[in-house]
Amino acid sequence: MSLIKSFSFLSPKNVYFGEGELGRIPEILTSIMDPQKGGTVLIITDIGFSSTGIPALIVKRVEDAGYTTELLDSVPQEPYSEDVESLAASLGSRNIRCIIGVGGGSVLDTAKFLSIMLKWGGTVATLMESGAPGAGLPCIMVPTTAGTGSESTPNAIVALKEKQLKVGVVSPFFMPDYVVLDPVMTKTLPPALTASTGVDAYCHVLECYTSKKANIFSDMVALEGIRLIDGAIREACKNGDNMQARADMLLGSFYGGMAIASSGTTAVHALSYPLGGRYRIPHGVSNAILLVPVIDFNKTAVQEKLLKVAGTVGIEPGADPSSTVDRYIEHLRQMMREIKIPSSMTEFGIKPDKIPELSEAAFQVKRLLNNNPREMSHDEIQALYESIL
Ligand SMILES: [Fe+2]
Repeated sequence: MSLIKSFSFLSPKNVYFGEGELGRIPEILTSIMDPQKGGTVLIITDIGFSSTGIPALIVKRVEDAGYTTELLDSVPQEPYSEDVESLAASLGSRNIRCIIGVGGGSVLDTAKFLSIMLKWGGTVATLMESGAPGAGLPCIMVPTTAGTGSESTPNAIVALKEKQLKVGVVSPFFMPDYVVLDPVMTKTLPPALTASTGVDAYCHVLECYTSKKANIFSDMVALEGIRLIDGAIREACKNGDNMQARADMLLGSFYGGMAIASSGTTAVHALSYPLGGRYRIPHGVSNAILLVPVIDFNKTAVQEKLLKVAGTVGIEPGADPSSTVDRYIEHLRQMMREIKIPSSMTEFGIKPDKIPELSEAAFQVKRLLNNNPREMSHDEIQALYESIL
């Protein structure tokens, strides 16, 4: 057997990074839109970001460049499959040729679903059963959080009401064609959201780095993502106007998506999904509550890698490797305190009698649990949830 570990990765075709890169959109549209065919450019966002006035500015720039637009600013936070389907139904007759998603993960993932559904029809259920039949409408993704990294993954998350669970739908056709990473877009994100979305990005890079699916490519982007996010998250929360911190967070989050596309997240995300699906705890917050206990659980299985992480974030190595790793875990715990992330499920009204059903639901998230570097039994999942009550 070869000693060389194989890997593959998907990535967006075109990426623009830098302050003011939002201005590129009209230029990008010239390579997407065929003037002979006409058609409408759909700009989707959520009501919160719409209030910044930036989506209206994008509409103006796109119209000034000669295109017809449709602005949809009603994407709900963490949408249900029905929400996505009713948006697709309401837009079906508008001759949409291109989608610009401007927002956090909920908006970008909705853009991915709409891209397929507006071209091919179907529902979330048919996409889950049979996959996307082919490439969807071209998408330009503009993340406004740092974040889910959705702009660089082939995944889209949606909540299923009947199952009270959030699921990740994966398709190579979900990988965006164009990504505009402009840190100015994240400048107005308030500290609490900067913290929770930032910890989600931290989870992506740290989980992917310690995942069973980790490889030399994902390790490269994940470790650099850890360095960037670990170095910038406190400052981005304290001083949102610091554009260097915002830029580092945005790039780290993008690397997180790249790491997911080549490696995969582990038990933090597996145990997080039932908390989001049943109790509507925001994704970044449920991940944040779980991050330290899961890394503590995994530490013996990935000691070498955690030593590398510790060195990357500036922790001096000691004579005893396990105590160096413990100092890194303490560093993480301290970071959560500093950025004021909730640390227990009780804060969300979850009672001890709910733990068996949460554990059962998490135990079913095999796609991610199988990536965890240390096997996690049903009883161990239950003990982990008990530790964060
Ligand atoms: Fe995530």
